[in-house]
Amino acid sequence: MKIGVLISGRGSNLEAILNAISSGELNATIEVVISNNMHAPGLHVAREHGVPKILTLDALAYASPQEYETHIIEELKSDGVQLLVLAGYMKIVGPTLLSAFKDHMMNIHPSLLPSFKGLNAQKQALEAGVKVSGCTVHFVTDDLDGGPIILQQAVLVSDDDTESSLSHRILLSEQDIYKKAIQLYSEKRLVIDGQFVRILPEGGMS
Ligand code: GRF
Repeated sequence: MKIGVLISGRGSNLEAILNAISSGELNATIEVVISNNMHAPGLHVAREHGVPKILTLDALAYASPQEYETHIIEELKSDGVQLLVLAGYMKIVGPTLLSAFKDHMMNIHPSLLPSFKGLNAQKQALEAGVKVSGCTVHFVTDDLDGGPIILQQAVLVSDDDTESSLSHRILLSEQDIYKKAIQLYSEKRLVIDGQFVRILPEGGMS
């Protein structure tokens, strides 16, 4: 299965996916990585792993958001990308890209959705005093951080957690479940039914 990845920053989820591919845990290839930020450290990650196409596209250089996303779609489609993975992509996906990859675009979010949508989810969790937070892989829809949930993993919050310590533990969980969600997708085991995602058992239909 051919994957395209959109990033904006560090790229640790991208790296975990690339490592899972190298180790044979994930049966897929990353054909293209696109960053909207030319300084994203994740671009080095992609280069080090020999991703065949690595692009930096500055959204502000386009006449409109539609033109920017149309260019992204052209690049993804020309490489036969079947699944679009958002890995720390810090732009809201617009209708152009959404409709081109409807049901074929995933995101990872550092909270147990629907709690703590949007930015600084780990800080929001600490401020709310929750004892458990975590991360969520979901399909992307026009409802920001609100698309059908694929996998989640809980992370305990301790009294002495800081935003940084909690973010670090959540990140480890993110890297664990993202590759699993992508593998499930590649095995055609994810069935979207409205807001629900049913996970078919291994090796056949339920
Ligand atoms: C992750 O915490 C992810 O959940 C959020 O942005 C962060 C990206 O980290 N959407 P990285 O670039 O994958 O290291």
